[in-house]
Amino acid sequence: MEPAATLDRLVADAPHRIAAAASLDQLHRLETELLGRSSVIAEVKRSLGGIDPERRRALGRLINQANTLIGPAILARRAELERIETAAALAGDAVDVTLPGRSGEQGTLHVIRQVMDEIVDIFVALGYTVATGPEAETDWYNFTALNFKPDHPARAETDTMYLDYGEAAEGVLLRTHTSPMQARYMEQHPPPIQVVVPGRVFRRDPLDPTHSPVFHQVEGLAVDTDITFADLKGTLAHFAREFLGPDITIKFLPHYFPFTEPSAEMHVLYRGSWLELLGCGMVHPAVFEHVGYDPEQVTGLAFGLGADRMAMVRHGVTDIRHLFDPDRRVLSQFR
Ligand code: DAH
Repeated sequence: MEPAATLDRLVADAPHRIAAAASLDQLHRLETELLGRSSVIAEVKRSLGGIDPERRRALGRLINQANTLIGPAILARRAELERIETAAALAGDAVDVTLPGRSGEQGTLHVIRQVMDEIVDIFVALGYTVATGPEAETDWYNFTALNFKPDHPARAETDTMYLDYGEAAEGVLLRTHTSPMQARYMEQHPPPIQVVVPGRVFRRDPLDPTHSPVFHQVEGLAVDTDITFADLKGTLAHFAREFLGPDITIKFLPHYFPFTEPSAEMHVLYRGSWLELLGCGMVHPAVFEHVGYDPEQVTGLAFGLGADRMAMVRHGVTDIRHLFDPDRRVLSQFR
């Protein structure tokens, strides 16, 4: 085709081709095609030298015309496409502030933890401090320091879970109660002391509605020069009324624990039935001796209560297994 005709055609087609470029990318490719080094315009320009002056002028005009049409049209379309693409990007990122929020589900402390905190708080209000101890314990702290005789049945493998650390660390076990912290705490602190110890304990019990191999206790210990059994009864009666309410009847029944003398169980008449809430007693002189206290100088009260039982009583749970089941239908009821 004649160069003049080609240029005419180019000029005629360019406006709508430019308008049809749908993206900055497409527009860039079109610009290269129309104005770049291998475009028709560039080719015609390169051929101008070899043709006669009259045609050269005519072609030169056509080239100018094409350039003045195409260049500004591309600039205008580019500005337009940039506006459109920016607007689309902003719209994609937009936050609709009228949408309902996506709030994370709020968790809650486990019901046993809640109840242990509540129990501990009652004693903290009486001046007790809080301590915790190891769950893997030695035979010494779990039994011997607490005046358990070598043949006491609780030491048997049928009741206690022993850990196998080899011969170097014989007699390591999962503590069967929180009482070992009585000995550990007295070793570390001179009298007077008032301490509560919440924690997890372990026994070789099969899981059934009232037993679990893992359960929770709160231990209590107060030692001073003149603590009496009346202090023990008054303290624990106060606790029971704070925890269960004033409308309860309390009785102490004689019992036996190796580490207290005398020892008792506290039972509570609550909503029509008697519940055994805790074991307690006056610290046995042998325990004081084991930790380096002089039994002639001090007396002490001690108690240990089952936190799982307390949680069940508080919330009317009849099967302890619910407390250890990660079923959220159960757990979410205790907010
Ligand atoms: N350690 C006992 C148990 O697990 C509970 C207990 C009884 C703790 C009497 C005490 C106490 O501190 O004085 O059955």
